Formats: sequence, structure tokens, C-alpha cells
Amino acid sequence: MRIIEEQKKKSIFRYLGINFKGYGLWTALAAFFGCAEVMLEVLIPMLMSVIVDGGLYREEDFMLREFFPQALIDDRNRFVITVGLIMVIVAILSMMCGLLAARFSAVASQGFAKNLRFSLFEKIQSFSFANIDHFSTPSLITRATTDVNTMRMTMQQFLRTLMRSPIMMVMATVMAFAIAPHLALVFLICIPFLAVLLVILMKIGQPRFKRMLRKMDSMNKAVQENLVSSRVVKAYVRGDYESERFRETAEDLRDAQISSSKLFTLTGPIQMMIMWGCTLIILFLGGQEIIFEKTGLLTGELVSMVSYTTQAVSSLTMLSWLVMSMSRAQASLVRINEVLDETVDIADGPSDETVADGSVDFEDVCFSYTGDPEKLALSHIDLHIKSGETMGVIGGTGEGKSTLVNLIPRFYDALSGSVKVGGIDVRDYKLEKLRDGVSMVLQNGSLFSGTIAQNLRWGDPNATMEQMKEACYIACADEFIDKFPEGYETMLEQDGANLSGGQRQRLRIARAIVKHPKILILDDSTSACDMTTDEHIRRALHNSIPGTTKIIIAQRIASIMTCDRIAVLDEGKLSDVGTHEELMARSTIYRDVYESQMREEENPHAES
Ligand SMILES: Nc1ncnc2c1ncn2[C@@H]1O[C@H](COP(=O)(O)OP(=O)(O)OP(=O)(O)O)[C@@H](O)[C@H]1O
Ligand SMILES: [Mg+2]
Repeated sequence: MRIIEEQKKKSIFRYLGINFKGYGLWTALAAFFGCAEVMLEVLIPMLMSVIVDGGLYREEDFMLREFFPQALIDDRNRFVITVGLIMVIVAILSMMCGLLAARFSAVASQGFAKNLRFSLFEKIQSFSFANIDHFSTPSLITRATTDVNTMRMTMQQFLRTLMRSPIMMVMATVMAFAIAPHLALVFLICIPFLAVLLVILMKIGQPRFKRMLRKMDSMNKAVQENLVSSRVVKAYVRGDYESERFRETAEDLRDAQISSSKLFTLTGPIQMMIMWGCTLIILFLGGQEIIFEKTGLLTGELVSMVSYTTQAVSSLTMLSWLVMSMSRAQASLVRINEVLDETVDIADGPSDETVADGSVDFEDVCFSYTGDPEKLALSHIDLHIKSGETMGVIGGTGEGKSTLVNLIPRFYDALSGSVKVGGIDVRDYKLEKLRDGVSMVLQNGSLFSGTIAQNLRWGDPNATMEQMKEACYIACADEFIDKFPEGYETMLEQDGANLSGGQRQRLRIARAIVKHPKILILDDSTSACDMTTDEHIRRALHNSIPGTTKIIIAQRIASIMTCDRIAVLDEGKLSDVGTHEELMARSTIYRDVYESQMREEENPHAES
């Protein structure tokens, strides 16, 4: 509870400052040119009144009279042309400042977005498996793309509008008061009225925006899920079903967007109504003064009053738009902050040791994915694997085999007990040192787009061609690589989509061997290989890297029968450990699995 309270107290903007790093100058330039643009723009109505009063009506005390020489004022045509020219120059300068401000704010906000994306990416790189489980991969992708983009757009709008609007509003009001204070009172009354109306609209709008963002999330999730698994969708001919499901999500999003944009569209007419209302009142009152009361108000001044009204009211509306986008960005910022705030639960330990040997010791290890001691995925495991030993692990689906080996390179931490590698607790190692010593072929690991050689060098960036060939020989990958015309330079598509399932598995094993680990873990890594290849790989592993500890998880008993020892897992518990012969003699679970697999092999069509 205390942590949540502290989180709440922290500013939502806590990560914004550092992400402006390197773009402070651009931000300052955007602000400077934004101010300059407004200052110049506010001058234009004043110059207009000078032309009308001084040039057309030839009034004696028109605005800014003291700035013009008498000779120029006396020459009517020259006066009108000169002031007109000044007006054009001011307008062009203002436009140029506006362009520069827009350009600089675009650079600053794009840079900010790049920094933010990079911070997120770096943070996600440091995540443990548990951290990734917490957010889910599609949600992390949405946060690093859609949410960052929302922040970028708002930041750009913020830099442009926040500089313009308040300055413009204040300047326009000041100018209006300088010209005719009693008329300026009209829009001084109207502006708070408009402000209240806009605040009400924003209050109604915010929950609608949040709903729209949630819908956008679900749509992104649906798109990602479908694209990532497009092959499965096709294999199960689920295209129509998925399209229908997507249509519902898309329609939901459309409704939510319409509902939130209804309010946006209302702000326009309200602004217009108030603006024209103010203009009418000012024109009526001002006109009366000029025609009947002769208070000294000049026609040109009345015209500039109308312009200032327009400027003040429209800048307030722009400000309200900004506040609305900020409420939208707030939801994104909270989601980004959640990622940046996530405590990485697996961090470097104090020791600087490298993995000395390939021994692995599980000492009374319990583990739960939820952290709940009542829901253990592994329960009181005591298992000691000697350096250089080949240990088989067998057990039914979901019995905890992958979970067990995931604790060795510290993908997760044990709930209680300790896991030791090379005699040292895994929590004491620096992660890099520990993982340098342990190579794991994940059950559903991936390959990356790039050449075969590039993929192999993930194991060791400095691996020579000889070393790669040797690893591929052990993993039986050489036979298919040699058949490719471009050999090790063959390009792989994302996740090796242009390879067969068995070829992918063999390449992943080779990649793990290239690393020259002290401990090599194969998690169901030969399931897609035929029996002969499977046997060849096992024999090559035994002969070529005898000093490496090998932990082999398999569903097929034939794959682990020849291991030095075999661990039998049952419902997260270590049921037995021993050689094939020992287990055949004393483990009923092992014997049952053996006999059912042998029966199947002899008579593959028999009903089990
Ligand atoms: N990331 C996860 N989050 C929560 N629960 C998980 C996670 N991964 C696995 N589990 C659960 O933990 C249990 C053990 O899973 P594990 O992957 O270790 O099984 P396994 O023995 O490797 O099975 P298989 O032979 O199918 O690969 C299962 O009940 C599974 O549902
Ligand atoms: Mg598994």
C-alpha cells in the first residue's frame, strides 16, 4: 500500500525531463520563435487601425502617430503605402517565425520520442521473464509504439500551442484595453464564460478518451496476435472467424472515437458563437460611440478591436484543444511510466566470478510463477548434477521440466532454497557471467532475420568459420546448410520461416554450442528431428564436448535413455533420479512411460 501511495505522489512527468536530453536547444528555439510569431501577429490589427484612421479618415490622434514623421502623414498615398508595406513585412516575418517554430518543435518532439522509445527499449531489455509476463508482449509493443507516438504528437502541439495561446490571449487583451477599456470589458466577460464551457466539455470528454484508448489497445492486440500467428490462423482456417472478431473490435473503436470526437466538434461552434457574439456587441456599442456619442473612439480602432477579439477567443479555444490532447496523452504517459517504473526482479549479484565448472545443485528449491507458496510449479527439489555429467529430464506435459531448467540461467528466481552453478548461488553471479557459462536451447526459441552465420554468432560474436562448422556438425545442421547454394551466408527470414521445423531446431542447437558453455541445456530440442538425427546429435554431443554438462529434456525416452542419469518429474516434484536401469527397476512412472512408448513403437496404430 505504501509503495502505491508513494508512486501516486511522484510526478507523472518524472521521466519527461531526461528524455529531452540533447533537444533542449531545439525546444528553446521553438519557444523563442513561437513568442516572436505571436508578438508580430498582434501588431497587425494595430497597423490596420493606423491605415484606416490615419490614412483613410485622416483623424488627428490615430494610434502610433508619434512614430511617423509629419511629412509622411501629410502625404496620404505615401503614408498608406508605407504602413501597408510595414504590415506586409510584419506578416511575412511572423509567418517565417511560425514556420521556424513549427520546424523546431517538430525536431524537439521527434527527438523526445526517440529518447523515450530508447528508454523503454533499454528498460524492456533488462526485464526478466517474470517482468515480461507481467505486461505481456503485445502490451509492451503498444506502449513502445502507439503510446510514445501519442506523447510525441501532444508534445509537438504543446510546444506550438502553449507558447502561442497564452501569450496571444494576454497580448490581445492588453492591446484591446489600451485601445478602448470599456469595450474590452465585453470580451473580458465572455472569455471566462467560454473557459467554463470548455472545462465542462473536457470533464465529460476525459472518460470517453480513456475508453477510446482502451478500445485502441484491444484493437492493437487483435492485430498483433493475428499477424504473429497468421500461419496458425490459416492452418485452422480461422480467417473468417478472426475477421468477424476483428470487425467487432474495429466497430467498438469507431463508436468510442465518434463519442469522444462529438465533444471536439462542439468546441468549434461554441467558440464561433461566442466570438461572433462578442464582435456584434463590440461593433454595436463601438458604432454607437463613433456615430452618436463622439467619445473619441476611431473607426480603425474599432476594426482592430474586432481583430483582437478574434485572436483572444481563438487562442483560448486552441488552449482547450491542447488540454484535451493532454488528457489523452496522460493515459499514454501513465502506461509508459508503468514500464519505466517496473522493478526488474532479477539483477546482477555481488560476485565477479565466472562459472568455474558445470556442476548444478538444486537445494530444496521451491518455485511459483505467481509468488504464491500455495501454487508451486516446483516443490522441494533436491538435485545435484556433477560437472560433465549428462542428465536427462523426463515427465509429462506441464510437470515443470522447463521451469526447472529456467532457474539455472536465472530466467526466474527460486521462491525458496537455492540453485548453485559451479558451487556458487546463481543470485551471486553477474547475470552476464552466469549466462556466458550456461547455454540453453529454449523449447520455443527463435531465430532472427539475417544470415545463418549471423545467427550462429549470437552464441559467440568472434566464432571462426571452423568453430561454426564444428557446432553445426554436432547439431547435424551441416548436412542441410551445405546443400544451400549460399551455405552459411543463406539469408533467413524472421524466425527462420524459410527453414523446416527440424532444421530450425538443429540450427538453434548449433547456436548454443558455438557459445562453448560449461552447461548446455536442451529443452525438448530434438522433438522435430527424426530418430536417427536425434541419436546422431546425442552421440556427437557425447564425443565432441565431453567436459560440458548436458541437461536434456525430452518426451521420448529413447532420447534420454543413454544419459548418465535421468530425473523424473511428477507434478513439480522430483519423483526419482537414477540410471535407465535403476529407474526401470524402481520407478513406476518411468517404467509406465517406457512401456507405453515401446508398445507404440512396435505397434504405432494401436489405440492407447
Ligand atoms: N510463464 C508462465 N506463467 C505462469 N505459469 C506458467 C508459465 N510457464 C509455465 N507455467 C505453468 O507451470 C507449470 C509447469 O510448466 P512447464 O513449462 O515447466 O512444463 P513442462 O514440464 O516443461 O511441460 P512441456 O513438456 O509441455 O514443455 C504448468 O502448469 C504451466 O501451466
Ligand atoms: Mg517445457
